[in-house]
Amino acid sequence: MGNQLKLNKRKKNYFVHQSSYVDKDVKIGKGTKIWHFSHVMKGAKVGRNCKIGQNVVIGPDVVIGNNVKIQNNVSVHRGVVLEDHVFCGPSCVFTNVFNPRSEIPRMKEIRKTVVGEGATIGANATIICGHIVGKYAFIGAGSVVTKDVGDYVLVCGNPARVRGHMCKCGNKIVLRNKKWKCSDCDIEYKISSGRNRKCSLKK
Ligand SMILES: CC(C)(COP(=O)(O)OP(=O)(O)OC[C@H]1O[C@@H](n2cnc3c(N)ncnc32)[C@H](O)[C@@H]1OP(=O)(O)O)[C@@H](O)C(=O)NCCC(=O)NCCS
Ligand SMILES: [Zn+2]
Repeated sequence: MGNQLKLNKRKKNYFVHQSSYVDKDVKIGKGTKIWHFSHVMKGAKVGRNCKIGQNVVIGPDVVIGNNVKIQNNVSVHRGVVLEDHVFCGPSCVFTNVFNPRSEIPRMKEIRKTVVGEGATIGANATIICGHIVGKYAFIGAGSVVTKDVGDYVLVCGNPARVRGHMCKCGNKIVLRNKKWKCSDCDIEYKISSGRNRKCSLKK
């Protein structure tokens, strides 16, 4: 009975496809699924109910929140933090050294990238390291992010420029009857005026 209990406790409550590698000292939350040919490196922490696609690398000591979706061909390097509910589109690129040179070791100069809760990074986008992608920000497909992106802000292009604001549900926030509202689900937001317009939920 005692032995049976120990066995049950050791039973994994997450899924790793047999073609993938999970190094030692890795924590993976309940309900997370890791698909084909991926590698989770030493010391990484992956939250609950995450979906990690094919050919994904989670670097050493990387911290990933709950319900994060990482599509195929993404490397999440040391120095990158993905908060809860982040969506990383296929083949998006994180960087961690700002000015790499093959002849000069720069692993001590890693610049941190934080992707805030609920943010979306479109397919094939590149995030230059040392920046914060705000919560529920939306990075259009193929964009190159060279600056911080505010909460709920939509950026597109190379270099990525502000194109508007996106609701939590992934639709545009529009001004109607002097109110900033989602064009789809009707959630209301506050957007400040001025150069660095801050967006937040209207309570
Ligand atoms: C950004 C996005 C959500 C569209 O937003 P939108 O504001 O509704 O965009 P629209 O289609 O109305 O286009 C508005 C303008 O932005 C441009 N635009 C849209 N997406 C763009 C992008 N990713 N990069 C550069 N420009 C873009 C359009 O060409 C258009 O330009 P114009 O005003 O000169 O004609 C969509 O284009 C996108 O990139 N989605 C991400 C898809 C993805 O990566 N999914 C991953 C999982 S499969
Ligand atoms: Zn909405």
